[in-house]
Amino acid sequence: MKKIKNEDYIHFYGSDHKDLFEIERKAMDRDALVIKRLDELLPNGRVVDIGAGNGYTASRLTKDRIMTCVEPSTTMPNFDLPVNWVWGTAEKMPFHDNYFDAAYSTWAYFLPGVDKTKGLAEVKRVVKKDGLIIVVDNAGEDEFCSFADSCISSDKEFYEKNGFSSEMIKTSFRFDSLKESKALMWTFFGKEKMKDNIKLEYEYKVIIYSLKV
Ligand SMILES: C[S@@+](CC[C@H](N)C(=O)[O-])C[C@H]1O[C@@H](n2cnc3c(N)ncnc32)[C@H](O)[C@@H]1O
Repeated sequence: MKKIKNEDYIHFYGSDHKDLFEIERKAMDRDALVIKRLDELLPNGRVVDIGAGNGYTASRLTKDRIMTCVEPSTTMPNFDLPVNWVWGTAEKMPFHDNYFDAAYSTWAYFLPGVDKTKGLAEVKRVVKKDGLIIVVDNAGEDEFCSFADSCISSDKEFYEKNGFSSEMIKTSFRFDSLKESKALMWTFFGKEKMKDNIKLEYEYKVIIYSLKV
């Protein structure tokens, strides 16, 4: 595989600040609603998690699957988890055609700069016919996303145009302490905007897009 260059992927803050990413990851699917739904939807067999971060999601799926995590950052992965790690991007993955029974990506396709059209062509290439592709992202129009200056919700039009169906999960960002909430919310949205808005819980909506190949 061609060497991954810095400009080929989005440098994610969690690569440098593991402590903050752990606060975020724990808070954002606190009741594991997304993970439970992925567990219901995904088939057994070979499954790939694209932009897997530290492997939080892949390591929590319970059924009998062979999990492969694709991640471009060399510092994000937690190599202690019982998953296979592969260095790659959504747009270029080092697998044969028709290799996986399913693929999913949680909060990785939305990153500005990830080429969704190339990514979709690539994921369709590596997933078998009759396989499943799932993308999890921000649904938007909720309290959490309202603090962002620009739109951080997913591109629903893109997924609908490409034949995906969607379902929404109403959840919340729920922190263990106000200290953790402040650390993350100040980093994300700025001290000024969050100065009177630090709370333990913020309403948050997630959208799950699914496509049978
Ligand atoms: C918001 S994190 C989500 C991590 C993980 N999916 C989760 O739910 O915890 C986004 C991840 O996408 C990765 N990423 C950045 N550019 C990417 C690309 N072009 N293809 C795949 N993943 C990418 C980042 O390194 C980061 O680990």
